[in-house]
Amino acid sequence: MSQAAVDLSVEIAGLRLPNPLVLASGILGTHASLMVRCARAGAGAITAKSAGPVPRGGHVNPSCVDFGGGLLNAIGLANPGAEAEVALLAETRAQLAELGVPLIASIFADTVDNFARVAEHISRAAPDLIEVNISCPNVGSEFGEPFAGQPESAAAVTAAVKAATGIPVIVKLAPNVPSIARIARAVVEAGADALCAINTMPGMLIDAESGLPVLQNRSGGLSGPALKPIALNAVYQIARVVQVPIIGTGGVSTGQDAIEMLSAGASAVGIGSAVYADGPDAFGRIAREMREWLVAHGLTLAQVRGRAHRQAKWPEAATPAPVPHAPAAETAPPATPRAGAAS
Ligand SMILES: Cc1cc2nc3c(=O)[nH]c(=O)nc-3n(C[C@H](O)[C@H](O)[C@H](O)COP(=O)(O)O)c2cc1C
Repeated sequence: MSQAAVDLSVEIAGLRLPNPLVLASGILGTHASLMVRCARAGAGAITAKSAGPVPRGGHVNPSCVDFGGGLLNAIGLANPGAEAEVALLAETRAQLAELGVPLIASIFADTVDNFARVAEHISRAAPDLIEVNISCPNVGSEFGEPFAGQPESAAAVTAAVKAATGIPVIVKLAPNVPSIARIARAVVEAGADALCAINTMPGMLIDAESGLPVLQNRSGGLSGPALKPIALNAVYQIARVVQVPIIGTGGVSTGQDAIEMLSAGASAVGIGSAVYADGPDAFGRIAREMREWLVAHGLTLAQVRGRAHRQAKWPEAATPAPVPHAPAAETAPPATPRAGAAS
């Protein structure tokens, strides 16, 4: 098959995307012209920067640092507030619709009720989807633990947002939880139409000379290449327990990275730091690399999706049996020391 004939289109919550590459929230999602540039450059969907109930200035610089393995950011959810966001989204949506590229609004709030209020408000702009950011790690001092930290709080936000809008809802999950699969199941049971996994991972950089954390906020969220194995694992674990589409996000910067994310079970692939580093042209390049990979391997996108769950190279039977909770020493008789063994 020729590369031009490769069909990269995918479906998320009833919406057709021309390709699976989604601009992740927080990257160039602040102005209509920037979002349209990403769509023209080859993005399959555009997520706007997260907007909350009221305008926020965000954190003081330095708030985003490239440390070699990726980015560490603590932008602090700077945004113009829901009121101004409605106008931005309406303007952007009209322009994206002409290009056949869906718009995803992104919202956050400090309480369950405010999540519902922002969702209801933002719906006036008629975005194609609403992504619910319950997982920003950089505002803990103001908002406390992210709602994504517990199944109950994650489900409460999801149910409230679903009740407040008729627009399909994506819930964006956090990587730093004991079981992301449990949280995923809870939000899907509460009505989520799709999931985005993952947001950034909490991290810190310290300047050895001064002994000070590099970011003014001290800690921040890690993204880019260092996040990829964590994101792949999260998507893989989630895909085992839910049926809704997953936008796999974290560390994707090449076509092969995107193929890996789809193999883990994602239906679409979020791109953030790679666009921050390379600009909107990253979309066209990654899509081209995906086509090249698919043609070289004689596979379709549908055959790639979830492939890691079907591959028989390392069958379940060959993996070690699960370790029982009770330590073996408590149940088994004490081992007889070998002659001459040191004690
Ligand atoms: C500078 C910056 C700002 C971000 N702002 C947001 C945001 O407003 N809302 C959100 O849900 N995620 C935000 N994120 C997280 C990204 O959407 C994405 O989940 C994360 O960066 C992992 O993807 P990547 O490795 O491709 O960057 C931000 C990330 C960066 C680097």
